[in-house]
Amino acid sequence: MTEILKIDPQKPELSLIQEAAEVIRSGGLVAFPTETVYGLGGNALDAQAVQRIFLAKGRPANDPLIVHILNKSWLDRVTTTLPPNTELLVHHFWPGPLTLIFPRNPAIPPNVTAGGNSVAVRAPSHPIAQALLAVAELPIAAPSANRFGHTSPTQASHVFADLAGRIDLILDGGECPIGLESTVLDLTKDPPVILRPGGISREEIEQLIGKVNLAAKNKSGEPEGYLISPGMLDRHYSPHSTLILIENVSGNRENAIKKIIEYLGQVQKEDQKRIGILTVDEEAFFFNAYPQIEIISLGSRENLDQIGRNLFAGMRTLEQAGVDIILTTDFGEKGLGLAIRDRLRRAASQIIPA
Ligand code: TXA
Ligand code: MG
Repeated sequence: MTEILKIDPQKPELSLIQEAAEVIRSGGLVAFPTETVYGLGGNALDAQAVQRIFLAKGRPANDPLIVHILNKSWLDRVTTTLPPNTELLVHHFWPGPLTLIFPRNPAIPPNVTAGGNSVAVRAPSHPIAQALLAVAELPIAAPSANRFGHTSPTQASHVFADLAGRIDLILDGGECPIGLESTVLDLTKDPPVILRPGGISREEIEQLIGKVNLAAKNKSGEPEGYLISPGMLDRHYSPHSTLILIENVSGNRENAIKKIIEYLGQVQKEDQKRIGILTVDEEAFFFNAYPQIEIISLGSRENLDQIGRNLFAGMRTLEQAGVDIILTTDFGEKGLGLAIRDRLRRAASQIIPA
């Protein structure tokens, strides 16, 4: 049985936090909101609790977890050495959506790090996450609270849909304010490497510590209609519907819209597939003339924060509406655009440049 507790995201009720902390302390699993997405938390110092996280998600054991800590004073519980730039980054971006890779402290059970000698660590800024850490007084291992391979949850109902019956408790603190996972930055490399773009942009990091590298990226500028073969792209954020990404490499929005319309015409003529479109306020009217398609606007194209916040929920809504194909386009790679493009690519079965 999975219990759900409604909790105030600004001023979490202490009695509820104590109940959740007790579940964590006794080796159970609690899903809780962070500023990025909902996490599936367990005691990071308890190998059995960590094992339960992998089982609940159906996550392969070779994919390491992020350890959440209250603040930098807990760093020595999880790591042995602080690489250059740690102080600066932690000072500027913690608490917040930046995960840092450090050498692992042997106190962290090997299954947390998938047997590796490095550990991913972040201090979340969400009041519920902070209260849970403070009261449990334990580092909490928490991947995103979705079944492995599915879209990350940004609302408690998403967690329930994926994990009901597999975890002990869900703290329902409403919608996650960022809606995209944290940026993962490997500090054990020089220069540091962004392993996953996220809530803190590459530009913000580089402004602070100078050049960082971006981990070798999958797929850019592939020939038109290129179909990604399984394994070439980790499909980590996929909705159950087939997502087709019209990647706006030209930067000209009209090109992307034309491609979507072209595709629409083609698919609607050929077969009876149900189609959903993820679009933005300024562009939704282009698609209104088409009957029987589900249109969801993610917000204004001028507001990447808003698009980021609504992206995963939009995918889940279309999937629940039962569409076969989701058509969408990206928003370049400036600022949060890079993280949005990354998540769309990972969700996509096909990427078409425009
Ligand atoms: O925003 C977030 O980061 C959310 C919230 C809950 O904090 N968590 C999250 O966890 O997205 P997860 O497990 O879904 O993604 C963790 C990512 C994975 O891509 C994993 O491979 C990478 O971090 N990672 C974890 N430990 C690592 C390590 N030691 N070295 C390299 N990558 C690591
Ligand atoms: Mg995840």
